[in-house]
Amino acid sequence: MTFLRNQWYCAALSHELKEAPLGRIIANEPIVMYRRGDGTVVALEDRCCHRRAPLSKGRIEGDNLRCGYHGFLYDARGQVIWVPGQDKAPPGARVRAYPLAEKHGFVWLWLGEPALADPAKAPAFTWNDDPRWASCTGHMRIECDYMLLVDNLLDMSHLPFLHINTIGSARDLNARLEWERGPDWLRGVRQAPALSPSPRQRAEGVDFDTDRVQIMTYTPPGNVVIEVIVTEAGKKHGDPSSRYDTTVMVLDSMTPETESTCHYFFGLCRDYDIGNTALTEFSSKAVLVTFGEDKDMLEAEQKIIDLAPHAPQIDVVGDHGGLQARRMVERLLAEEQQGTRQAAE
Ligand code: FES
Ligand SMILES: [Fe+2]
Repeated sequence: MTFLRNQWYCAALSHELKEAPLGRIIANEPIVMYRRGDGTVVALEDRCCHRRAPLSKGRIEGDNLRCGYHGFLYDARGQVIWVPGQDKAPPGARVRAYPLAEKHGFVWLWLGEPALADPAKAPAFTWNDDPRWASCTGHMRIECDYMLLVDNLLDMSHLPFLHINTIGSARDLNARLEWERGPDWLRGVRQAPALSPSPRQRAEGVDFDTDRVQIMTYTPPGNVVIEVIVTEAGKKHGDPSSRYDTTVMVLDSMTPETESTCHYFFGLCRDYDIGNTALTEFSSKAVLVTFGEDKDMLEAEQKIIDLAPHAPQIDVVGDHGGLQARRMVERLLAEEQQGTRQAAE
């Protein structure tokens, strides 16, 4: 599989970049990230130009990164500035440096042509560090094609089945689903009225029916932002007489690691009871249980797919979003490859 290159891929959460270098494979490329003395983030090829040891097993020294094997010292541009036993670094002793953009607690990596990297175009998950929202974030490695996770997040018909013990409502069987799309985005609105409380809602004390609207916005390659609005059944969002009226933003970014494994970066931001740190703590644990249910199913699904990648599958109405997302990625890939061909000619 070829991956899109001229795109921003989520590569880390800000809080993961601390005192040690962080190594991660992104779209089959070994990447090491670290934070410089001034706090800015750096991404280099995670393959020492000496004997190809991963630089992520080395250490940060001020603005530089030292290989943990024989001590080559790299600056933030990927240039070797010191080698043992000789006065000068050999010409060409360097590794690739990648553009990075850090925004709202998420770190975005540009794999493609550096001159085309525009940090303003990296996704802005603004809710994550907005004081009007309470947030938690996480990272999970899932052994599946990242597009299976895109499918999963754009098809919420799995909630009353896969998540029946957590966030699913048994009555969520016939939601209204509408999609609209632009050249580089896709938005689905899923309306599910009169839902019986999910186990998670019951734990929060909700013992009445609710209406739920999920607004899912996809942007390539693997970003899905879901706005989830839940009100007491029959009440409008913003109606003060509603016994329940909450908005949660689910921020998801899926990054391919290899063809059949991916990184799942997520944030969960709520607009209610934002000072309740115990609730934030609970949510950050609970989301891992729910997403663990997805991980378990997706990894099992990938194993079956791998046995016969071309076995047929049936598409139904709920698959519309996932299919459109795949088409968008395929079109962008074709455009990128055409651009590369033209540049070569
Ligand atoms: S492998 Fe890095 S210094 Fe030798
Ligand atoms: Fe799920």
